[in-house]
Amino acid sequence: TSEQLWTGRFTEATDAFVEQFSASEHFDRRLYRQDIAGSMAHARMLAEVGVLTADERDRIIDGLGQVREEIEQGRFQWSPKLEDVHMNIEKRLTDLIGEAGKKLHTGRSRNDQVATDIRLWLREAIDGILQELMRLQAGLVELAELEADTIMPGFTHMQVAQPVTFGHHLLAWHEMLVRDQGRLEDCRKRLNQMPLGCAALAGTSFPIDREQTCSELGFDRPTRNSLDSVSDRDFAIEFSAAAALVMTHLSRMAEEVILWASPHFGFIDLPDRFCTGSSIMPQKKNPDVAELVRGKTARVHGNLNALLVLMKGQPLAYNRDNQEDKEPLFDTADTLRDALTAFADMLPAMEVRRQACYDAARAGFATATDLADYLVRKGVPFRDAHEIVGRAVRYATDEGRDLGELELDELQQFSNTIAEDVFEVLTLEGSVAARNHLGGTAPAQVRARVAEARDRLRLL
Ligand code: ARG
Repeated sequence: TSEQLWTGRFTEATDAFVEQFSASEHFDRRLYRQDIAGSMAHARMLAEVGVLTADERDRIIDGLGQVREEIEQGRFQWSPKLEDVHMNIEKRLTDLIGEAGKKLHTGRSRNDQVATDIRLWLREAIDGILQELMRLQAGLVELAELEADTIMPGFTHMQVAQPVTFGHHLLAWHEMLVRDQGRLEDCRKRLNQMPLGCAALAGTSFPIDREQTCSELGFDRPTRNSLDSVSDRDFAIEFSAAAALVMTHLSRMAEEVILWASPHFGFIDLPDRFCTGSSIMPQKKNPDVAELVRGKTARVHGNLNALLVLMKGQPLAYNRDNQEDKEPLFDTADTLRDALTAFADMLPAMEVRRQACYDAARAGFATATDLADYLVRKGVPFRDAHEIVGRAVRYATDEGRDLGELELDELQQFSNTIAEDVFEVLTLEGSVAARNHLGGTAPAQVRARVAEARDRLRLL
């Protein structure tokens, strides 16, 4: 049809199904702001180097501004016949301003255009995601301080292992998120290079000034190879990998939140506003938000795989396959951001049931290691101490009591080195307080790490 921008070479119109099959405007219109910003920078540069007149430049800039307004006010007529966001905008520009609009595409191709648009878009998306990520970090740090002294069982193999402080557990989550932040920041650094000017694949014969568009668009530098620039989607994969890992972390947190909120654990109570009920069972209060975060992790992992596979067979330079990069990328950015928002709102608001946490730690022989360490300090080799305490635990299990609930003479059956002072190490408070070194679970350490984290977050 005459709407198309390449009729010259063709003798028949595009097949109706192919038109629909190849259109991307319904999803890539999300790039309109970046596309217009890129076009404005390109037009200013073309005028600077004498390819456009000042008047043509002004008409183009003005026209693009109008197009942007039409889009933002919902007045823009998107057409799948015009394939994508780039041609929709260019066509409308030409309708609005005439001849000058047709000159905008001088020295450029949709290949470098789209590569530039996505990078601009992703840069902004990462900034928004980092903000939510840091809001979640801050919320966890605040709660960790409140729960610095709260004792809970720490688990290995899902079996009670040793007592830990709730604050320490929350700060473990925080550490994961600090690494995630670093990965996203690294990714942002590497993606902030400008492909514009590489044109279709080989560059352009016009005397373009890539440094000018680069600084106008806020990139760190222009890319170095035109073939690579129009075909590289590493940045999308790198972001997706970082995002997949953040989601893995959120999913692990979700799993714990779900367990803790179950009546069998009862370690936390989630605010009603973050839970849903059952349509049939009146007693239910379900942790759906956490379950959805865990569930949405699947699609983010899938998107990463989709992008890796999308790229693995592509020869240089641009191939239309690349149009398939956007939906997974957009979906990952949206999903990650929403998951972070949900957790940044919900996790700091969870109510910790301190007594239930404490009771669970007390019931699980969590201080068995402390008893072994006690014997070692009295001169018993660790392997012997391990054996002695193992027998004491078996005895206490049969008795239905915890180690701290045994009488001194009962404990002394297993080793006569055990004395009255043993009960200090068999308390949960003594156990956590004793682990008072960098990285340990002691309340004093939690407070020190909270202070560090606060400083770091304030500096950012
Ligand atoms: N819509 C295309 C994409 O997303 C833009 C580039 C198209 N270039 C081309 N030569 N067909 O990749």
